[in-house]
Amino acid sequence: MVTTVGFERGIMARPMFFTKFLHPANFDWSKSVGGEIPSSKVGRKKITTEISHYDQGISRIRIKDGGAWDPDRNLIALTPPKKGKGCVRVEEGCISIQNELGEVVLKSPEEGFFGAAEEAHLFQFAVPESAMYYGMGGKWFKRFELSGIRTKNYNTDVWSDFHFAQWNEHEVDPSYFASPYVAVRTDKGYVGLLLHNPGVTTIQTPGHDRARVFVNWQRTWPHLLIGAENGSPDLWVISAPSLAELTRRLQKLVGVTPRPPLWSLGFHQSRWGYGGENDLLKLSRRFEKESLPCSALWLDLDYMDGYRIFTVAENQFPNGVQTVTDRLALEGRRMVPIIDPGVKKEVGYAVFDDGMEKGAFCKNNLGKPYVGLVWPGETVFPDLISEKGRNWFAGYAKGFRDLGFTAAWVDMNDPSTGPVDPTGMLFQDGAEPHDRHRNQYALGMQMATIEGFLKSEPKERPFLLSRSGFVGSSRYSAIWHGDNVSNEAHLQLSIPIAIGMSISGLPFNGPDIGGFGGGATNELMARWVQANFLFPFFRNHSTDSSPMEEPWRYSGTAKRSIYHFIRLRYQLLPYLYQLFIRQENSGDPVVRPVLYEFEEASAYFTSDAFMVGHALLQAPILSESESKRDVVLPGSESWWDWQRGKWIAPGLRTVRANLTHTPIFQRANSIVPMLLEPPTKPDVDMRSVAFLAAIPDTGGSMQADYIADDGLSFDYRSGQESALSLQIDADEQNVSIKVAQTKNGYGPLAAEVWCTRPGIFTVNGQIAESEAIQIRLAGGKVTVYRVKL
Ligand code: NOJ
Repeated sequence: MVTTVGFERGIMARPMFFTKFLHPANFDWSKSVGGEIPSSKVGRKKITTEISHYDQGISRIRIKDGGAWDPDRNLIALTPPKKGKGCVRVEEGCISIQNELGEVVLKSPEEGFFGAAEEAHLFQFAVPESAMYYGMGGKWFKRFELSGIRTKNYNTDVWSDFHFAQWNEHEVDPSYFASPYVAVRTDKGYVGLLLHNPGVTTIQTPGHDRARVFVNWQRTWPHLLIGAENGSPDLWVISAPSLAELTRRLQKLVGVTPRPPLWSLGFHQSRWGYGGENDLLKLSRRFEKESLPCSALWLDLDYMDGYRIFTVAENQFPNGVQTVTDRLALEGRRMVPIIDPGVKKEVGYAVFDDGMEKGAFCKNNLGKPYVGLVWPGETVFPDLISEKGRNWFAGYAKGFRDLGFTAAWVDMNDPSTGPVDPTGMLFQDGAEPHDRHRNQYALGMQMATIEGFLKSEPKERPFLLSRSGFVGSSRYSAIWHGDNVSNEAHLQLSIPIAIGMSISGLPFNGPDIGGFGGGATNELMARWVQANFLFPFFRNHSTDSSPMEEPWRYSGTAKRSIYHFIRLRYQLLPYLYQLFIRQENSGDPVVRPVLYEFEEASAYFTSDAFMVGHALLQAPILSESESKRDVVLPGSESWWDWQRGKWIAPGLRTVRANLTHTPIFQRANSIVPMLLEPPTKPDVDMRSVAFLAAIPDTGGSMQADYIADDGLSFDYRSGQESALSLQIDADEQNVSIKVAQTKNGYGPLAAEVWCTRPGIFTVNGQIAESEAIQIRLAGGKVTVYRVKL
């Protein structure tokens, strides 16, 4: 009976074959899509094509069928620039994507541009043999370049849906985050393809590295495919001359990450098992005693009353939530509680009763609340796809903020339903099938939580961390990479995931430092902290069954190294904060592939090194037992070595770093703002700053703009920020520094310049004193020349 009802309504739950893909041979292909006559036929479907053009090389192609494809199911609309030339042209039934010079970068093949098979659709492009592929969000493919890939977007609780033997060391797909976006590099420029569809989507890239091709299928289908099992064919196409420009355009289209609260860029300590007041105050005292800065302490499931969301166990908070928030605030720390979407199915539990009364939960095909099995047992799910469900959830999020929780961690929002088939979970009062919306369920949760938080406290920038997400999550939330493992494979994976997300429109991301499952050895934890200490999001988190992993659990050299790099992150907060400001203003991500900054062949495949902003290249040691590695220092200029304070010529280098060191290089003619001392407490004042200037011995020119604000409120939007502009011009002997405070909304700024070489210094035309000082960056002490401004 159940099956019949579901079948009749076309929503019968079906087995999920994660690894099966749409094959173009099963599709009818239209060759005249978008041509002179915008309506044509694909198989039995009559379709029309709409192409819109915008500035900055952006076009949008929508295919409509007068039926199931037409409603735009996206929760958020993208924000293109004003109407313009776009990049897509239609000639003789072919679609071509052009660069700014009007040259064809990609073109649809003879077989056709658009294919349909019932509700599924595919777009396809012929690609040059030499094309490279990037992006796709936070895939677990262990490499930055993604040719020869068939991937699905279906937000997945990896640990629940795959076997340990798969996720422990190997690639799994799909994983937590859906990003139906691929960036294609060709000799004529870059093209970004974004399929704005919250249903089940796929990307298939031809493999040009034959050694990697496992089955012949990939060889026999030479074209690039992007499509969906259902939902609207809505393809955004971006053409740009560089990966950087492409990413900026994409980021503005999907939405930039607003300036986050400064505390969220600090170090975060989490653990499945921290329960409440006792645990957190103890931790706080310990950080104080260790003179180790830590900005936030996290609460996993145990703070709740029996895993009931939006409740607090009395024994965990005997003095109420606000008391703990206030006590932690005295030491500069925040508390971040977890919130799951699943609501315990229990009559008498107010949240459940209220949701039932208001019709806020997802339905199954019998018209009853859909039931999954998660932490509290039988669990129902708020319909975060419907406005009604989001408003309902936002009300509880507001109540939570009112109670004294000032940030939130939204987990399990893939959504994870335990062993129960999720496709039975329907949206919009049962009218909308699961798969058509699954990938934006987490986005709905982010939107609702932020709405509730802002209602409660409109003056403070909210902070949210989420596991899953979709196109546009960047507007609401930081994303962590999901459940990883304490081993070298996952340490290595952290880099391609972070840079993959960064160029897919998700700049605020980072993994569980040290690994979530298993235990990190001394060496592994030290190497992990070094490798990720400048990642946008920096949190140590571990599961309840693993050994305790707070920084003081480690010993000897490893412990010293962990402490040093946590403090160094704080010292570099001025730099990271500028990068986040840039992100909001121009769309540049914080960590970037080397290719982002250096368009050269050595960077096409680099998965084990990355740039932090424009100035720093990090090439960490990614193995517990190694203390050297190879790295290509790109470009034509030397790099200043943060370990030894020396210049290194570009090219392939073998670099050494014992356990207290990590290879970081500063670009010639760049400036990195930092605090004057490595802090031991989390609250930092960004109004006193040192500018570390990498000035080549032969001279050079460099420029920086620096901004400081209160790090917490939205007042910067009404001018309450201070800004300073710095220009340095040097020859072999003289170093001229010009400095001016250009904005004063957050008070006067005190600055000094730390130059990597001596010279005859002038500040705004006046001779200035300099003094050699020693600082510690990524290795031993190095000498810099301090000039006070
Ligand atoms: C799954 C999350 O990924 C993990 O970080 C968390 O500790 C557990 N859920 C328990 O809440």
